[in-house]
Amino acid sequence: MERIDKLLSKLNIASRKEAKTLIKKGLILADGVKITSADMKVSENAVISYSGKEYTYQKYRYFLMNKPSGYLSANKDPKDKTVMDIFVEKYPDIKVSDYFLMGRLDKDTVGLLIITNDGDLTHRLLSPKYHVEKTYYVKIDTPINESIKKKIEDGVYIEKDVLTKPSKIEILNDEMTECNITIVEGRFHQVKKMFSLNGSNVTYLKRIKFGKLILPSNLREGDIIELSKEEIELLKNEN
Ligand code: URA
Repeated sequence: MERIDKLLSKLNIASRKEAKTLIKKGLILADGVKITSADMKVSENAVISYSGKEYTYQKYRYFLMNKPSGYLSANKDPKDKTVMDIFVEKYPDIKVSDYFLMGRLDKDTVGLLIITNDGDLTHRLLSPKYHVEKTYYVKIDTPINESIKKKIEDGVYIEKDVLTKPSKIEILNDEMTECNITIVEGRFHQVKKMFSLNGSNVTYLKRIKFGKLILPSNLREGDIIELSKEEIELLKNEN
């Protein structure tokens, strides 16, 4: 159980001081019951009604963004636009400093990016111990061939002493310039570096899958959705 004024503050409805006024005016309901005093205790999961809207407190929230090109995967940057700038614009009530990006996409990469305030899960899924599969749709300027495909899949030195783990490539066009690649790591510029083995430049890179989560085809660049309970479970059951 939680004091109602504290819960209103956690829900970003009102500061504890403002809560008193709202309660005095009879504007707050918890599970359909009018709240009459700021020290009343309600369940942390109570449905709070205020000003025609309903709110339920969730400690952890999970969002999926279709990251647009031109934005840095960072919380803040003195000169560039960041994905968090988009996030705050869409969700002004959240406290950005509590949120983490589940991995980073390059400035020119688009696609699936998870944003959450669940720090433990973020650390777990990004840890090299867990081999979460990530799939990218890639366009390259120089075609690959079956033998290069196999070499990349088997593992490539992307730096001295850094050999990539086995990956899977699915070629999508006859010209062999478009494919999906699934990797289990998340090294800096990894996909670009892997294709550079063939002297190919990546001209378009889009993350379409993270673990079992798929980028919805109708989610436009810059759009964000909050994950459903089922999707959160999929994320938590990654290993
Ligand atoms: N690999 C890259 O090269 N860039 C990304 O943004 C993600 C994976």
